[in-house]
Amino acid sequence: MPDNKPRAIHSRLLDWYDRHARALPWRAQPGANAPDPYRVWLSEIMLQQTQVASATPYFEKFTARWPDFASLAAADDAELMAAWAGLGYYARARNLLACAREVAAMGAFPATEAELRKLPGIGGYTAAAIAAIAFGQRAVVVDANVERVVSRLFAVEEPLPGARKRIHALTDSVTPDARAGDFAQAMMDLGSGICTARAPRCMLCPLLDACDGFATGAPEAFPVKAAKTPKPQRYGTMFWFTRADRVLLVRRPAKGLLGGMRALPTGPWSDSPPGLAGAPTSASWRMLDASASHGFTHFNLQLALAAAEAGGHENADGEWWPIAELESAGLPTVFAKAARIFRRA
Ligand code: ADE
Repeated sequence: MPDNKPRAIHSRLLDWYDRHARALPWRAQPGANAPDPYRVWLSEIMLQQTQVASATPYFEKFTARWPDFASLAAADDAELMAAWAGLGYYARARNLLACAREVAAMGAFPATEAELRKLPGIGGYTAAAIAAIAFGQRAVVVDANVERVVSRLFAVEEPLPGARKRIHALTDSVTPDARAGDFAQAMMDLGSGICTARAPRCMLCPLLDACDGFATGAPEAFPVKAAKTPKPQRYGTMFWFTRADRVLLVRRPAKGLLGGMRALPTGPWSDSPPGLAGAPTSASWRMLDASASHGFTHFNLQLALAAAEAGGHENADGEWWPIAELESAGLPTVFAKAARIFRRA
């Protein structure tokens, strides 16, 4: 193992990043001038709960429509919310607009972590990421990818979430003074492409011989996680109601979980399976053997799946959506998962 671990880590990681950085639309080339802060901010908000591959087309759409803070600040609320549809977590979109309007009123986007944190939708991680990536400041950037990489590099035995403070301090210890933005993004790329949660590809890792986790023989055991208290289980039924090559979609109520999103109809969600309660219409429903499950923040949901074909006379509120084009409906994950099951059934 190298005797100066922090230096060995950041210099090897930056060398690796210079050769292997993902080309992402909000990024500057490694080592190049800082990218546009507006684009960095927008990408970081989109990436808060969304994978790079899912966020990228939204990023392209938003920057084409609203290329800077001023245009976004002047956006129509409904148009912005509609453009966000499918990304989920609508509070992010509301905060996005509130933040753009504050920045427009302030006249400039602040460049320090402390000032950034005062803006809507910008927490500790996002403030650090923007300060480092957009403004080249030394900031300690720890997202879930970085948490995994660092907990492996140092074989952190303490379980999450208690280990967060220690992981932050260890990340601080390996963060360089220069190129902090590239370093943060290099850690993210390493975490998403090589130091993956399951089956990390250690043989490709530039930090292999500095990695205590690799030396244990079981790097995938890190980060250690505290046993979770089980989430409550809730149940519902999802309805696949077809007419020729179309399926019935509804819009969920604006308030509440998945609010305002297009969806397959579901009945009530309750503590025991509700059967056909809440079906969009009385038809000869066929229950599938399969079910769809989804983990929400505060409970797990299991949805029984019921399918029927419209005979032509049933009334049902909603949109008849072409089944072949369901991908473009912007369905939340749990509905998209179920739709795949229904289509195979
Ligand atoms: N996740 C969050 N921010 C990111 C970035 N700038 N690059 C890649 N993945 C990210």
